[in-house]
Amino acid sequence: MPGVEFDAATRTWLLSTPGTGYALRLGDDGVLRHLYWGPRLTLAQASTVPAPRPATLTQFEGRVYDIEEFPVEGGARFGVPALQVRFADGTRGLELAFAGQERNADTLSIRLVDRHYPFEVSLHYRVYPDSDVVERWTSLANTGDVPVEVLRADSATWPVPARAGYVVRHVTGHWGGESQVERVDLARGETVLTSRRGTTGHHANPWFTIDAGDASEEHGEVFSGALAWSGTWRITLSRTPTDVVCVTGGAGHEGVSWRLAPGERRETPVFAGLYGVGGYGATSRVWHRYVRGHVLPHPQELRPVTYNSWEATGFTVDEPGQRRLAAQAAELGAELFVMDDGWFGARVDDRAGLGDWTVNRDRFPNGLAPLAAEVHRLGMRFGIWVEPEMVNPDSDLHRARPDWVLHMRNRHRTELRHQLVLNFARPDVAEWAHGWLDELVGGNDVDFLKWDMNRPFTEAGWPDGGDDPDRLWVRYVENLYGVLDRLRADHPHLRIQTCSGGGGRVDLGILRRTDEVWPSDNTDARDRLSVQHGYGQIYPTVTMAAWVTDVPNFLTGRTVPLRFRFHVAMAGVLAIGGNLPEWADEELAEARLLVAQYKRIRPVVQHGDVYRLLPPSDGLSATQYVAVDGTESVVFFWLPAPCFGREAAPVRLRGLDPAARYRDEATGEVQHGAVLLGHGLRPQLPSGDYASAVVHLVRVD
Ligand code: GLA
Repeated sequence: MPGVEFDAATRTWLLSTPGTGYALRLGDDGVLRHLYWGPRLTLAQASTVPAPRPATLTQFEGRVYDIEEFPVEGGARFGVPALQVRFADGTRGLELAFAGQERNADTLSIRLVDRHYPFEVSLHYRVYPDSDVVERWTSLANTGDVPVEVLRADSATWPVPARAGYVVRHVTGHWGGESQVERVDLARGETVLTSRRGTTGHHANPWFTIDAGDASEEHGEVFSGALAWSGTWRITLSRTPTDVVCVTGGAGHEGVSWRLAPGERRETPVFAGLYGVGGYGATSRVWHRYVRGHVLPHPQELRPVTYNSWEATGFTVDEPGQRRLAAQAAELGAELFVMDDGWFGARVDDRAGLGDWTVNRDRFPNGLAPLAAEVHRLGMRFGIWVEPEMVNPDSDLHRARPDWVLHMRNRHRTELRHQLVLNFARPDVAEWAHGWLDELVGGNDVDFLKWDMNRPFTEAGWPDGGDDPDRLWVRYVENLYGVLDRLRADHPHLRIQTCSGGGGRVDLGILRRTDEVWPSDNTDARDRLSVQHGYGQIYPTVTMAAWVTDVPNFLTGRTVPLRFRFHVAMAGVLAIGGNLPEWADEELAEARLLVAQYKRIRPVVQHGDVYRLLPPSDGLSATQYVAVDGTESVVFFWLPAPCFGREAAPVRLRGLDPAARYRDEATGEVQHGAVLLGHGLRPQLPSGDYASAVVHLVRVD
């Protein structure tokens, strides 16, 4: 049984998941050491695993071979500290001693106390009966009567066992180019993945994988981790010259501290870890199931086919225009209609009005209710764009409350996209945002919010905010979470999309309180294949919104056929974002058919397991989805640029039952699972650039 066990004789803890084991031990010298992370062991086996080399100090290396479970600053430790504090008398570092444990079927807390100062650290663990993901987080408590400066507090340190080599995978990117997978040798030294932007960031995402250099999509041991936090963060992967590797990570970037008040306790976000043996593909599938099973609020719901007006109208929204789009969207089969930016205040472009969340009466003379009613009459849900954390200086809100933005004395207030960041760390700002959002949702039958956040923090200060100025970085995120949680609790039907200029705020923290993600403002179908490839490394398809928009694409100028654009978006949560009044009748007819087809395959795409058969390239790429119960499968083929008239080779499928047969829903042809697995499925593609196909297989016996 997965769970938590303890062997009192050797003082060994074993966390077991269905397929893996994770063990730690309290040494006779009082040091809590990491012992093991790998395939499952029994407690009897785990208790015989030799501890890492004891803490004999080498002259120049200190504790270099001593693998501690949570290496704090202090003593002869020269690696990356997971915890750094400074006590009121100026003493830095900790000398921690074991002070007790709390254990139940699936959680473990180990309490450590400082030998001298009244300060406690608890390491927390949780395992699930249906996942190999292990959750870890840390709590700190100041049990004394003077403040303690917390300079760094990671959620967890994940030691990676000794292997023949170390390759790290993660994503990098930028606005319009998020989630690009990097795979590089882990450098000897320290590799820092971080965000200093106030949000998770477009340029990096808080997850990693490490393998021995021998893992591939289908094979090999992979160690991975993902942080559940939507503010700034830092994950440091360190590889010593003697090849001791560990990853430590948590909320906050370098130089940001927290004054822990007397009696105060602080809990870090979760930094979850996973060991697996099926390569990068299996690693992703485990993360997907974990996110669906233990993170998302409504994992079982099918996500609606959505229409979003942004690329069609830009800021030019009004009631007649939105009604026209809604009518056409409903005809195509959309189930949720989302009106984007431009419906409020003086917001006719991005220079003014942000913060003034009253409907623009020139554009909507009778408010939003008539549009919402019309959208509902058409059989769709009604969604609306909001950006609650922002303000244009040219707005009534900013004129009334210039002190509400992040700012510092004697410093400029840097504007990006002509806007400033509201200080959500302030309780009055969070309360104000909750107030108008609550009214907007409740008073207009709003079913869905696209919650945007369109710039990073600068001058992140709050001059009158008390004597612990860096707290703002954390409080901001906690209050953001608080507003989202309250809205959801009070409006149980409300669904929320997280957007930050595309994929700037995607992480396991925001996914606990949102339903889907806008992964990128880049809607070019070809670029999107690689964005979706990177996004799906950790995050499941059911969260991955994907629009079909107009060509030439606004960002790349590329023209891609409608069918290919649909086939790319149908591999996620399908949405349409084109200017429908300009679509030709044939395009509308084709779109209707593709939307109907999507609705047939959507349970498998959104809730199934993903197999990345061939990664995105100019040549053939393919992704397969298999229903969790094995009854159906969907395969997408995309070929952006065929070469030399070569015929595509059969692509071997995955996840099917070799003893079963499967019917192709389009052709009626029945094929053996064994053949599809062993020989493959030859893609039937039209000729020319941007050829694509989708095959829906249903198990017949
Ligand atoms: C951001 C979003 C877009 C759109 C605009 C509106 O860029 O990512 O999808 O909502 O804001 O201003």
